[in-house]
Amino acid sequence: MSRKFIIKESTRNRCKIIPIEAHTLAGYRPISLELFAYLWDVKTIDFSIYLRVEKELLEYIKPSELSVELLQHIWLASLREDAGVDVYVARKDFPKFEHTLDYVRRKKINALLEREQGLDRRTLEVFADLSGASQMVLRGGIDKQVAERVKAAASAMVQNLMDSDCAMATLSRMISIDPTLYDHSASVAMFATVMARRQYGDNMPFKDAVVLAQSGLYHDAGKSCVPNAILNKPGAFTPEEFDVMKSHVHHGFRELSTAIHAGAPIDPLVAQVAIEHHERFTGKGYPYGKKGRFEEDAEFGIHPYARIVSIADAYSALLMKRVYKPALPAEKALELMEMSAGNDFDPLIFAPFAANVKLSLNLLRETREKEQKKSGNIYMVEKGDSIAKKINETRKADSAKAAVAKPKIGA
Ligand SMILES: [Fe+2]
Ligand SMILES: [Fe+2]
Repeated sequence: MSRKFIIKESTRNRCKIIPIEAHTLAGYRPISLELFAYLWDVKTIDFSIYLRVEKELLEYIKPSELSVELLQHIWLASLREDAGVDVYVARKDFPKFEHTLDYVRRKKINALLEREQGLDRRTLEVFADLSGASQMVLRGGIDKQVAERVKAAASAMVQNLMDSDCAMATLSRMISIDPTLYDHSASVAMFATVMARRQYGDNMPFKDAVVLAQSGLYHDAGKSCVPNAILNKPGAFTPEEFDVMKSHVHHGFRELSTAIHAGAPIDPLVAQVAIEHHERFTGKGYPYGKKGRFEEDAEFGIHPYARIVSIADAYSALLMKRVYKPALPAEKALELMEMSAGNDFDPLIFAPFAANVKLSLNLLRETREKEQKKSGNIYMVEKGDSIAKKINETRKADSAKAAVAKPKIGA
């Protein structure tokens, strides 16, 4: 039975309503539920939030009207697959929206750094920027403006992160500790590029590393064409559903090729990675069942960037909790990948990747142990002291507050 979203008379009286004509939506950008959830962490906004209901666009929350109740209405309506509503922000206001997201991300990062010792702040800040770029790809489509934002984020990562020993571990731990900061494509971009840079060093020039980072950010661009009901399905796919899921590689390739044709700053290799990132080293992947290395077989081999991205893709997906699987700690994810490495991944790329992640995790563990020893000494001195008690009480109260009525995503 259809459960269409009905706009109440009181809402009609309260909101400005814009009828949707041929080009109306060109002035607005859709925003994902993941990003929408960030608005729970702010008290004020300086842009309006629009709700699309069939052929009408409602200015549902004006800057002066932000409230938990209204956010909750939008949240619940968006979760109903059959309601056919979407959330938008005006294109002209998008920089303001991004600014708000940036503020929330920084707040979350600061909380994370306080909670877990040894994490690398620079990695988390670069990741926050990548994440902003990646969300624009998934929800808003790829135009010149998006492509320029993605390229800038990819370049900034290559500039700031390539020599970092703790990037792999910091990102792996971040995903486990605060899943709300997780962004699949941003993490694939970061894992892939750090992996390649550590393996190839100066043999991978800056320009190529930026193309690889862009490949990570765009690899699942075609998923915007896959219905949420399939993307988030808890159980196994029917063969038909699996075909729809698999089609994201073709959609991504097409969308990227169109954008490249229209002059967006994207290397054609990025589109090749989008279509090849589910190919597997021994030929068991899709869509074409390519196998081996492009360098050895230019017709049926898989491009090295796609072989790198496929490893980063699998690792990132294993770390994250999904409706159909639990989150795994980094070591367990690597163990599972090692079991299928011979079939799925190029051993010449996978082995150094696994070694690097382990090295990075050990380094982080050592740093954390050192820090804990330091703070442990202080704790011993102050054990039973009212200050230590107060800190614990404040922390408990803060986490209890944070748990109240917050939406959970993708779980
Ligand atoms: Fe994919
Ligand atoms: Fe992916």
